[in-house]
Amino acid sequence: MFQFRFNIVLVELKMDLENYLLKNSKEEEISLIVKSLGDAAIKISNTIRSIKPQESISNNDRKLNSDGDIQKPLDIISDEILISFLEKSPAAGYASEEQEGCIDFKNNNNFIVFADPLDGSSNIDVNVSIGTIFSIMSKNNLPLEKAFIQNGSHQKSSGFFVYGPQTTLFITVGVGTSLFALDEKKGKFILVKDNITIPETTAEFAINAAYRRFWDSATLKYITECQNGENGPRKKNFGMRWVGSLVADASRIFNRGGIFLYPSDTREKYKNGRLRLTYEANPIAYLVEQANGEATDGHKNILNLEVNELHQRSPLIFGSKEEVLEYKKSYLYL
Ligand code: AHG
Ligand code: MN
Ligand code: MN
Repeated sequence: MFQFRFNIVLVELKMDLENYLLKNSKEEEISLIVKSLGDAAIKISNTIRSIKPQESISNNDRKLNSDGDIQKPLDIISDEILISFLEKSPAAGYASEEQEGCIDFKNNNNFIVFADPLDGSSNIDVNVSIGTIFSIMSKNNLPLEKAFIQNGSHQKSSGFFVYGPQTTLFITVGVGTSLFALDEKKGKFILVKDNITIPETTAEFAINAAYRRFWDSATLKYITECQNGENGPRKKNFGMRWVGSLVADASRIFNRGGIFLYPSDTREKYKNGRLRLTYEANPIAYLVEQANGEATDGHKNILNLEVNELHQRSPLIFGSKEEVLEYKKSYLYL
């Protein structure tokens, strides 16, 4: 009896992505799209690992290779890999950070895919975790351009792959958030943790503090109070972590809680934040909500924000519920 139970536990723990989708995803098309994204991520991961340091090819470092060809930046290569897998999947269309407009795969299928093919550009050349973020929505019978400006509440699945010490995947298909790790030998993503819950309280914040002079007074108030620790109004000490790759900072928050902040600031380019709503903030927000966390622009839930343009920016604050609430309060009591 004990042996029998033990075996069931092992089988559950070793569930791979395909079986997880079979069990949890209501739409076969979505399962097939996610499977293609997983295969694409394995190829991106291998490509990153096979690049020697002297061949580094980030976006601001274009060189000629030994054949005299222009080396393509890794974010473009990742975009091409995603397209090559998705065009063979049931996806109806694709939009990404690396494409001005959306790509029509010219079929009558139902679901569209958004992606940040490689997130964490400043970390590409320095061997720090980077990743691929994706979001899947129904086309809802809209013309493709219109389908790509639906708000985040229409997402059916979202996730991100992290290319770090391990290649991992955080994913939701609407029934909680789960963590998978790539088994390199089998070439499969294996379930590590189901029903992830972001702890409601935390004493860790993540923000690029070098921009302090550009922050609005609410952000300044919130962060100053955290920094003042147990002597300040928060009456507890905080620590700070900032990787500078959204995927890596999010990965930490899903594992042990925390609050991430990329607010709007007074720099002209970032007056509406830096991160992009459709392929960065929305997919992360969906995963966060499915894990009992909260994601806001400071005033409204990210998933309720209106989308006017595919590459629209948005402030993004997410993580442990209690801290996100505390941040929102700093706008109310100014
Ligand atoms: P991307 O590489 O796709 O352009 O995204 C980088 C993002 C995000 O990963 C990170 O949180 C943020 O930019 C860092 O911005 P700063 O360099 O302004 O801190
Ligand atoms: Mn990004
Ligand atoms: Mn990117």
